[in-house]
Amino acid sequence: MKLSVLLTSLLASAAAGAAVTPREEQDSPVSYAGFKVFRVATNGRPSRVEARLADSGLVYEQWNDDVATHIDVVVAPGNVAAFEALGSLSYRVMHEDLGASIAAESEGAHAFSLMKRQAGVSGEELHKRQIEDGSWFDSYHNYEDHIDYFRALHAAFPNNSEIISAGRSYQDRNIFGIHLWGADGPGKPAVLYHGTVHAREWIVAPVVEYITRQLVTGYNDGNEDVVSILDRYDFFIFPFVNPDGFVYSQTTNRLWRKNRQPAPTGTCFGRDINRNWVFGWDSNPRGASRNPCSETYQGEAASDAPENRGLDAYLRSLRDGPGVKLFIDWHSYGQYILYPFGYAETLYAPEQGKWTRTASFMSQYIRDSSSRRTTYTFGASGSTLYATTGAAPDHAYVIGGADFSFTIELSDTGDYGFVLPPERIRGVAEESWVGQQIVLALLDEEFFDGVGPAQLYQGQT
Ligand SMILES: *[C@@H]1O[C@H](CO)[C@@H](O)[C@H](O)[C@H]1NC(C)=O
Ligand SMILES: [Zn+2]
Repeated sequence: MKLSVLLTSLLASAAAGAAVTPREEQDSPVSYAGFKVFRVATNGRPSRVEARLADSGLVYEQWNDDVATHIDVVVAPGNVAAFEALGSLSYRVMHEDLGASIAAESEGAHAFSLMKRQAGVSGEELHKRQIEDGSWFDSYHNYEDHIDYFRALHAAFPNNSEIISAGRSYQDRNIFGIHLWGADGPGKPAVLYHGTVHAREWIVAPVVEYITRQLVTGYNDGNEDVVSILDRYDFFIFPFVNPDGFVYSQTTNRLWRKNRQPAPTGTCFGRDINRNWVFGWDSNPRGASRNPCSETYQGEAASDAPENRGLDAYLRSLRDGPGVKLFIDWHSYGQYILYPFGYAETLYAPEQGKWTRTASFMSQYIRDSSSRRTTYTFGASGSTLYATTGAAPDHAYVIGGADFSFTIELSDTGDYGFVLPPERIRGVAEESWVGQQIVLALLDEEFFDGVGPAQLYQGQT
């Protein structure tokens, strides 16, 4: 199966010329010209709105699963008039023309790649400047440029970092990452970040990159807080754990979510890598889908996505080595800080108290640091948002032994959703760094002893 897909795609892309990388299936790019995105209020009764949309016979795509207050729907041009004529739905427009929003979103990435080629300088040289001036965060970027940016981060921190790999994707891309350490390292307990498991969540990569940059430059500059963090923990940062999906979201379909593995039967593609983890897999019918065409398709068996196998092996090797102190799976959108359990809505981990306090400090500090007063909602993921089976944070906690295990859903709360304008990148990145400084400062805290920093932080807000 894999070989024939590969051959077909090689032949097809040879015919199409150099515009498509040889590993991509020969799908023509999906156009969202004239598509509108609506936020439909559900007012706590989502099934009524869902039934209304279903009865109308309209074809639409839904962006969010947390439908208690609203459903965000993408409606094709031919259906817009019928949607607006439905009546009795309360809604507002998120994207007037999704195609135009997507085009505007990517302008900077294309301009950057072009400039890099024309300037004739090496990627590393250019990125070195960008690490210094921060201009990287003014636009989104192409996958190959992201790889160069990480090479440049490593080059800026040669004696305290290495480029690492968690195996290969279905289409044989390297799942690369960077490992950072401080004095007397490596070998300290691990902080493990996974980014971009869902391909269309483009804000994730620049946020993870910004945090990496702050760690590298902060350590180099002797920033006390950063030195203290990196002298206590090693960081293992994987910005693209679903590289095939991310590339596909750039070349072909901006709204692609899953990996690019073909279904066992039928014509649908993609497993949801974040429903494919071993712990809790297939344990709750509300937590994932068995339908290969679903956005939350869990796979035919636990860990049958190659990306998942590589990431799990890496997680287990950290567990059996220095141990995992903090795991974060980075997503968008909705502004949530979530922790186990996801697979059951009524099950609470013994660590829930300290996780709640930590998330509450993160949320307060992010809000107070932000000119937009960005507010994160926090809680156990199953009860706060919705059930998820085979999701990374449950697995990282139960199997990986992570002391703290979070999902962070970045901005926004639904003005733009997945297609967040580039002007918003820097603010989200800066706020996220504020949040990370809080959680990293609290990792070794004795909670609820009446004396530690957890008490002090509360006093300040
Ligand atoms: C890295 O270590 C080497 C060998 O000890 C040293 O010569 C070099 O200056 C160090 N580089 C940095 C950037 O600290
Ligand atoms: Zn996601």
